[in-house]
Amino acid sequence: MRYVEVGGARVSAVGLGTWQFGSGEWGYGSAYAEEVAPSIVRRSLEVGVTLFDTAEIYAMGRSERILGRALGARRDDAFVATKLFPVLPVDPVVGWRARRSLARLGTDRVDLYQLHWPNPVVPTAATAAAVRRLLDGGLARHAGVSNYSLLQWQALEEHVGRPVLSNQVRYSLLDRRPERELLPWAQSTGRIVIAYSPLAQGLLSGRYDAANLPSGLRARTGPFLPDNVRAAEPLIGALREVAAAHQAAPPQVALAWLLRRPNVVVIPGASSVGQAESNAAAADLVLAEDEDRALTAASDGYRPVTTVARAGASLVRRRVHRVVDGLRA
Ligand SMILES: NC(=O)c1ccc[n+]([C@@H]2O[C@H](COP(=O)([O-])OP(=O)(O)OC[C@H]3O[C@@H](n4cnc5c(N)ncnc54)[C@H](OP(=O)(O)O)[C@@H]3O)[C@@H](O)[C@H]2O)c1
Repeated sequence: MRYVEVGGARVSAVGLGTWQFGSGEWGYGSAYAEEVAPSIVRRSLEVGVTLFDTAEIYAMGRSERILGRALGARRDDAFVATKLFPVLPVDPVVGWRARRSLARLGTDRVDLYQLHWPNPVVPTAATAAAVRRLLDGGLARHAGVSNYSLLQWQALEEHVGRPVLSNQVRYSLLDRRPERELLPWAQSTGRIVIAYSPLAQGLLSGRYDAANLPSGLRARTGPFLPDNVRAAEPLIGALREVAAAHQAAPPQVALAWLLRRPNVVVIPGASSVGQAESNAAAADLVLAEDEDRALTAASDGYRPVTTVARAGASLVRRRVHRVVDGLRA
């Protein structure tokens, strides 16, 4: 495992995302929540993972509970990051909510407390005051944000009056928007970009195609619309090619490509212990410059063909035509 040391924090380059834990949206079932998820946490610790990401909203607190129980006596070996569901991110609500998260996690402080999304209605100064109080009270070691633009990140930091360590954003070979502003700023100021959905929710594993799509929430997300899955085929082909040269797997290459960017850490979710092990090993996979270039070019060439809204509209159109044809017949 490789570790990233930035802004007074030391975290494993590959962390573990736990949205899947106990969450019905992923459709992994109760045996996963009760047996597989705790085993994933324990094995991740064994192979050197320290960064564990959860959120109060994941399975309405169940993910935090599963993670806390699985870490058990090894809590201090972990860098635990959770997130506030920011309906009313002000004092004293933030304090109450943070304490509830700590209780579910079975700990007296988290290493990183993140605001899950910006709240456009609540003044930044009010949220910043609540965040500062958490830090001062020792409930959180570091503050972070998620899904914030650069301006929102900087504004919060200015009001908090100390570094807001990280911004957790969607970042993968299929979605490289963080490279425009967030990453350059993080690299120049000693902040971290935490890449979520680094495998595009499993699409970059190469195990899906337009005729074999996952069920659950992924069936309704943009990358898994059949046209978009087809559009990603050349990129997945490029991942396969590089993977073969390293006796590695395509998802490991997708993670290793992200990890070549300074100040980036990844938090892939996993549906099995084997996946978590394989993802952790990606931290030690070193890609050559020309491999990086080939993957970047393949990523540049990816153009999503359709959006969820457009696909929905065309489905409705097809159904209307069918009804009209039926009436005519
Ligand atoms: N802050 C936010 O708003 C936000 C949003 C989304 C996610 N997150 C965080 O980021 C974490 C990761 O994102 P994500 O779960 O959306 O997407 P992801 O990590 O890109 O994909 C996870 C899925 O990919 C498949 N997979 C993982 N490792 C694999 C491997 N080695 N080989 C083959 N398949 C593999 C598994 O699904 P199958 O085996 O079922 O295919 C797994 O559930 C979440 O758990 C959560 O902690 C944060």
